[in-house]
Amino acid sequence: MNHVLENIITRRSVRSFTDQAIKQEDLDQIITAAIYAPSGMNRQSWHFTVLRNKEKIQALYELMGKHLGNQNYNFYNAQVMIIVSNDRENRNSVADCACAMQNIFLMAHELGIGSVWINQLKDLQDIAEIRTLLDSFGVPADHQVYAMAALGYAEVYPEARPRKKGSYHFVD
Ligand SMILES: Cc1cc2nc3c(=O)[nH]c(=O)nc-3n(C[C@H](O)[C@H](O)[C@H](O)COP(=O)(O)O)c2cc1C
Repeated sequence: MNHVLENIITRRSVRSFTDQAIKQEDLDQIITAAIYAPSGMNRQSWHFTVLRNKEKIQALYELMGKHLGNQNYNFYNAQVMIIVSNDRENRNSVADCACAMQNIFLMAHELGIGSVWINQLKDLQDIAEIRTLLDSFGVPADHQVYAMAALGYAEVYPEARPRKKGSYHFVD
């Protein structure tokens, strides 16, 4: 099978990570993949805030869990969290960030690193104490958070989720 297609097909969302650290050279490749994603009008107005510090990652999920009313909320023991944000005024921000997220996932998978999209921060980011924490991480003040990528080595590698039939057709 074509190598790129095999990478795409075998990627899974991982929801249980080991304590194994991710090497900086691997993170550098993952970020390179992110910034080479396509962006509308090539604006590249996104920003990737890469959290490598376990205490800071924990502070974020605990605060989010507090506002979600879920004491058990966490990021599955992710070793690194990438906060993906973009210019609030750019009407292509959502699409651009989604392209970057997929590049992050596919590059991580190629390196044997598991990943999953974490969605809740986009709905919590404007709560004052969460924004203050994001400010302390250096997330740009004029940016909206669109997604987070959790990264780590998989403790459990999930089975493929079945793909629905009938989601495409060809027209000649
Ligand atoms: C926009 C979006 C939001 C998602 N949010 C979450 C999330 O908050 N937590 C989570 O564990 N997975 C999340 N996922 C992962 C999906 O559940 C997962 O991609 C889907 O079940 C298919 O599984 P697969 O990625 O293993 O193919 C999200 C995926 C997308 C694209």
